[in-house]
Amino acid sequence: MTDLVRFGISLEKELSDKFDRLIRGKRYTNRSEAIRNLIREELVKKEWLEDKEVAGAITLIYDHHKRELIGKIVDIQHDFQNIIISTQHIHLDHHNCLELIAIKGNPKEVQKLTDTLKSARGVKHVSLSMSSTGKELI
Ligand code: NI
Repeated sequence: MTDLVRFGISLEKELSDKFDRLIRGKRYTNRSEAIRNLIREELVKKEWLEDKEVAGAITLIYDHHKRELIGKIVDIQHDFQNIIISTQHIHLDHHNCLELIAIKGNPKEVQKLTDTLKSARGVKHVSLSMSSTGKELI
């Protein structure tokens, strides 16, 4: 079991009110859980900045009618198979496909994969969700 530590925080009233409004809007029921998550967010950012092993997902939107594009996307993924742990393909409508690429590995490699996918002609949108392996989070 993890030890709990209690500590007080001094804040300007206006900042404290803003924080309470912010976390209420995000459905938090108490400040502690909101502050825990803010700390975790910073720790995850640090993992990405310090080249730790990270995890996350790349979301890719493209038109599957562009035949040469599908081949290119497959080629790119084979070049990065060391960091791709899973790919899911979803047919959004008659034209558009959504691909979810789950990644785990070095942040620079993940960024390189994301940029390579973004630069493929015909890809409509790419977004990277930067998360954590969870190993260094409590
Ligand atoms: Ni499709």
